[in-house]
Amino acid sequence: MSFRIAPSILSANFAKLGEEVANVIASGADWVHFDVMDNHYVPNLTIGPLVCEAVRPCTTAPIDVHLMVKPVDRIVPDFAKAGANIITFHPDASDHVDRTLGLIRDCGCQAGLVFNPATPLNWMDYVMDKLDVVLIMSVNPGFGGQSFIPSALDKLREARAKIDAYTARTGRQILLEIDGGVKVDNIAEIARAGADTFVAGSAVFGAGKDSDPQRYNSVLADLRTALAGV
Ligand code: DX5
Ligand code: ZN
Repeated sequence: MSFRIAPSILSANFAKLGEEVANVIASGADWVHFDVMDNHYVPNLTIGPLVCEAVRPCTTAPIDVHLMVKPVDRIVPDFAKAGANIITFHPDASDHVDRTLGLIRDCGCQAGLVFNPATPLNWMDYVMDKLDVVLIMSVNPGFGGQSFIPSALDKLREARAKIDAYTARTGRQILLEIDGGVKVDNIAEIARAGADTFVAGSAVFGAGKDSDPQRYNSVLADLRTALAGV
């Protein structure tokens, strides 16, 4: 199994965002996780397509846009034009989940659904063909730095079984991503439950001294070492 690490720039230094994106990828991260919050679907307000467009030239790594907004469809083409590669959204934030998935793909991006801790996985059952990513929230969305909710492990196992059955039937891969409270000391257990793509915000951007341009090397190496033992 190959693993991807996607640092969430929610915990980066916003005054130096371009530099932070370049540094974290140079330190060995795979994707840039881009948290979009609207103070409506979630009780916080973050960054939009203009910021995505601004950081796009800072890296060639995939930008993984996690939409925590309602409504969803209006903003999807803007993020595609701003250089997003993957766009995920919460099914309970869209009136027409199948249509929104199709819209994301029509805009040239990979599409995914995000499941809050209490959101049932059966939202994915009739749209598997339109999914490239399934993202399981292991915190309630809205803030970085929260603790991992243990029931997310059972949910990962359930999602892994659905995805594996689908892949066995069709040959098509779907990534299984986890978001919230991922740290060096729990990433192996999370991987064993079935995740292959790991968002980590505070664990990565909280590491090291602000003055050290290489400060993300060691935490990313520690995350990889923990995964290598899985
Ligand atoms: C929460 C966001 C997460 C968050 C993760 O709503 O979707 O991506 O930044 O932060 P940590 O890793 O600190 O829990
Ligand atoms: Zn996120």
